[in-house]
Amino acid sequence: MANIRVMIPEEEIKAMVKKIGQQITDEYKELIKDAPLMIIGVLKGAYIFMSDLVRAIDLPIQMDFIQASSYIGTESSGFVNITKNVDISVEGKHIIIVEDILDTGRTLNAIKTAMLAQNSKSVKIAAFLDKPARRKVKIDADYCCCQIPDNFVVGYGLDYDEDYRQLPYVGIVEL
Ligand code: IMP
Ligand code: MG
Repeated sequence: MANIRVMIPEEEIKAMVKKIGQQITDEYKELIKDAPLMIIGVLKGAYIFMSDLVRAIDLPIQMDFIQASSYIGTESSGFVNITKNVDISVEGKHIIIVEDILDTGRTLNAIKTAMLAQNSKSVKIAAFLDKPARRKVKIDADYCCCQIPDNFVVGYGLDYDEDYRQLPYVGIVEL
């Protein structure tokens, strides 16, 4: 197993996720009176962040998952294909798309466009991490735990060829 250098320790992640959960709770408290809030996780990378985040949101929510593919190894191909759509209707609902990392922005841009096309009431983005230096498409996270430099990171859902997702911290693989 390669050496992993810790970039964001577990305790820091916990505090950051709690803060985002509180922020979402405050901002949607009134909004959910006219439309339900639905949290959509992007498989597979987002599921660990999502499972902690939803438990930090003190509001009734619905949950579903979506899957898109565009990424092979560490290079983005630039083409995004939605391989698994949501099962529950998003029509008329406030949507928060939850993703592990906002990198080139292509994945979230494609998913956000698809959710708006399915007549959701609003669409926001909660990205656990953000690498602004890598952006190719103009898109921002509405909620983000941490901006990081252009390093390839693993852990807390993020993988390197499907390994390291279960690490409770975020680290850099030292090959
Ligand atoms: P996009 O380039 O913003 O479309 O991001 C596509 C996907 O690339 C993300 O959902 C992640 O799964 C993956 N990705 C981007 N950067 C990293 C990284 O540093 N580590 C692991 N996966 C990454
Ligand atoms: Mg991913």
